[in-house]
Amino acid sequence: MAESRAVPALPDGVTVAELERLCVTFATEAAGFVRDERPPKVGVSATKSSETDVVTVMDRRSEELLHALIQQSRPDDGILGEEGADVAGTSGLTWVIDPIDGTVNYLYEIPAYAVSVAVVAGDPHTHGAWFPVAGAVADPSLRLVHHAGRGTGAWTTPEDPSGGVAPARLAVSGEDRLARTLLATGFGYASEVRARQAEVMLRVLPLVRDIRRIGSAALDLVRVADGSVDAYAESGLNAWDLAAGWLIVEEAGGVVVGERRDGPPGTMLTVAAGHALVEQVRTLFVPGADAAPEPD
Ligand code: IPD
Ligand code: CA
Repeated sequence: MAESRAVPALPDGVTVAELERLCVTFATEAAGFVRDERPPKVGVSATKSSETDVVTVMDRRSEELLHALIQQSRPDDGILGEEGADVAGTSGLTWVIDPIDGTVNYLYEIPAYAVSVAVVAGDPHTHGAWFPVAGAVADPSLRLVHHAGRGTGAWTTPEDPSGGVAPARLAVSGEDRLARTLLATGFGYASEVRARQAEVMLRVLPLVRDIRRIGSAALDLVRVADGSVDAYAESGLNAWDLAAGWLIVEEAGGVVVGERRDGPPGTMLTVAAGHALVEQVRTLFVPGADAAPEPD
């Protein structure tokens, strides 16, 4: 992705709140769809970057549903989706959507997949030229939706709000030592990328408490936000994998960076953790970066 320094404007608070509400509504609807309309046998309908990079008919149908919902309510906004949606808007806002994040888990009926819906300011095609203003990650298996608006905090709400379960505010873990860090990570689909990621793991694994490969970047980021892992780092992500989770982590008091200290996350690297840990994790994943000392 090209690099840019353009700083887009943040919409006003009322607009942010409305966008967050729409993210929750749309992500919840798509989550119900992929769970409840799942065909008895989900087949692979195509492969993308490699034979392991699959797309199911439900990825496509979920993206079509989200596309229609967004265009009905927000016809002037752009849309960028994992399965090919690429609509230029006129408002300066773009919906960045992953219709099923964790497609391989979905295919194998492993209940760790999500629908990720974010609204971003700026151009999500260009690294560093955008930031999320509202987002929701819906977890169809647990019937929960995790969400945030910029400045509104990060929350988990039940899919059915009439069930009497109150929304819970999210907060990142306070862990500050690598040796006690439970680190989520993931691997790309191309085998040469995986070979490099495996080399990084040789360096990382002896230094942390353990690693988790959950299989959905959006849920990994939510786990950082709710403190159920201490940190997350992965290279090779696209904007749709990370847009909503990025904001949810920040609104839960965490930090999300890329390969550069204080730089934005993206394809080169995405690192998410609490303040005391993020730089230690980044330097583990960036060969040659100055090692950040662990606190005493
Ligand atoms: C993938 C998942 C996975 C991550 C990959 C992503 P998909 O997204 O988020 O956890 O490791 O980098 O591509 O293909 O399931 O939407
Ligand atoms: Ca994804």
